[in-house]
Order: sequence, then C-alpha cells, then structure tokens
Amino acid sequence: MQPDANLAEAHVDSAGTVTLSGYPMPSVQARLQATGLHAAYGDIRVLHGLDFVVAKGGITALLGANGAGKTTTLRAVCNMVRTQGEIRLDDVRIDGKLTEDIVRLGVAHVPDGRGTFLELTVEENLRLGAYTRHDKDVAGDTDRMFGYFPKLKERFRQQAGTLSGGEQQMLAIARALLLRPKLLLLDEPSFGLAPLIVKEIFAIMQRINAEEGVSILLVEQNASLALQISDRAYLLETGRIVFSGPSAEIRRDESIRRSYLGY
Ligand SMILES: Nc1ncnc2c1ncn2[C@@H]1O[C@H](COP(=O)(O)OP(=O)(O)OP(=O)(O)O)[C@@H](O)[C@H]1O
Ligand SMILES: [Mg+2]
Repeated sequence: MQPDANLAEAHVDSAGTVTLSGYPMPSVQARLQATGLHAAYGDIRVLHGLDFVVAKGGITALLGANGAGKTTTLRAVCNMVRTQGEIRLDDVRIDGKLTEDIVRLGVAHVPDGRGTFLELTVEENLRLGAYTRHDKDVAGDTDRMFGYFPKLKERFRQQAGTLSGGEQQMLAIARALLLRPKLLLLDEPSFGLAPLIVKEIFAIMQRINAEEGVSILLVEQNASLALQISDRAYLLETGRIVFSGPSAEIRRDESIRRSYLGY
C-alpha cells in the first residue's frame, strides 16, 4: 500500500510503515513487546518482522483483513507456531518458551472459535480456566466474573454448547481471566455476533481492563469498534504492519480511516 501523501504528520520509514507523530510513545511501559517477529507454518512464511507494543494496562488493537496474519500473531506470542524474533512479557523473554509456560507467566489466549468445551457446563468450563492455580481465591474470582457477566451466573449449570454465541464469548473471556493473566489475547471476539451484543462485550472488556489491570491485545476486523476501546492500533497487511498510531488520532483523522481502514 502506498502511504497517503496527505498524511502530513505521519512518518514513513523505508519499509513503508506509517507511524503517526509521537508514536510509539517513548515513555510507555510495555507489558508485551515484539521485535522483528517472524512466523511460519512449515515453509510458508506468514509474518515478516513485526514490531509492536501492548502498554501496561493498555488495550492494543491489531487490525487487518482476512488472511493478514492476525491469528498467527497471537499464536506466535503463545509459541503455537514457529517464530523468529524477540517477544518480551514485561522484562522476560517468552519467545521459544513452551506454550504452557507462557500461560503460567500470565498470558491468556481466547482463540478464534473461542476454545470452549461445548459438552461441558459453564461451571466446568470455568473450573478448567483456573486449572493452573493452587490458591483458594478461585471462588472469589468466579464471583467477580459473574459481576461482569451476570448471564453466566444464570446459566451456571447449563451445557456450554446450548449458550448463545454472545454468552459463549463471555464464557471464553471469563475462563481466560480466571488464570489471572497479565495479558489477555483476544481473537475477533465480535465474530458472528449481533452488533448490540458486541457493544455489550466490548464495554465489559473496557471495565475489565480498567478494574482488573489486565492488558489486552485485541485482534479485530471491526476497526471502528476496536478503535473505540483501544489506546493504540496496528494495521496488518499480508504479514507486515503497514500502519500504526494512537487510536484516538486514527479515529479523528478521516483521511487515515479512508485510506487504511475503509470506513
Ligand atoms: N496452519 C496453517 N498452515 C499454513 N498456512 C496457514 C495456517 N494457518 C494460517 N495460514 C496462512 O497464514 C496466513 C495468515 O492467516 P491468519 O489466520 O493468521 O490470518 P487472519 O488475519 O487471522 O485472518 P482471518 O481474519 O481470516 O482470521 C494466511 O495466508 C493463511 O492461509
Ligand atoms: Mg484470524
């Protein structure tokens, strides 16, 4: 993609990546930082050297069309695909670690398709979410999740497969949060859901981000919504970041939205 000539405040580097002025902010404390991240499935290279940051306590949106590499980026963070490059969670290198160790270090992943066990009840799914924990606060945390997602409480003993799509997404998020993660990776939580339910879930995500202090890397095709709840955003095209900037600036700038996000 050719950068738009009208983007006076944007900086374009030699790789064609457009960065808005003042971004990335040097003072930002990174919860997650990926540097030169490559990923491949066998011989098929999918990510070609991504640099991105999720701020401590922040919400970063990773936008892009079908096949851009969004899901692969989340898999790369969890080492579920072959990677090269550096990934840091706080000050700890997590690239190359076993997925289960990355989870233990505080990364919870809600994959596309949600990863819910449909034959199990809501209660059983939630208990699985806390399986790595040995403390006694699980019941208290489960109650707190019911505060965010009261519908799950009503359906505690119901089979997950009989929940609505929105309720299943809520269950997947609640289950991930029972790991008490530092970082939540969300893969297209809006997928297949009605706009009202998506709004509800996104509002809850914002509350959880603020109240639980969990940082979020949000993968979305729905750029308009994702920009409303994120503090920064990156746009992926065929495995490269072609645009990044503070979400508020991107939202305000019609030419950027039109050029890069098509709305
Ligand atoms: N298991 C796999 N083996 C080989 N290639 C794969 C595999 N999974 C994904 N790919 C390829 O990697 C590229 C990126 O896929 P990815 O699923 O990361 O995209 P995405 O941005 O999440 O797309 P979508 O919006 O459709 O979910 C695509 O070209 C896809 O065909
Ligand atoms: Mg995907």
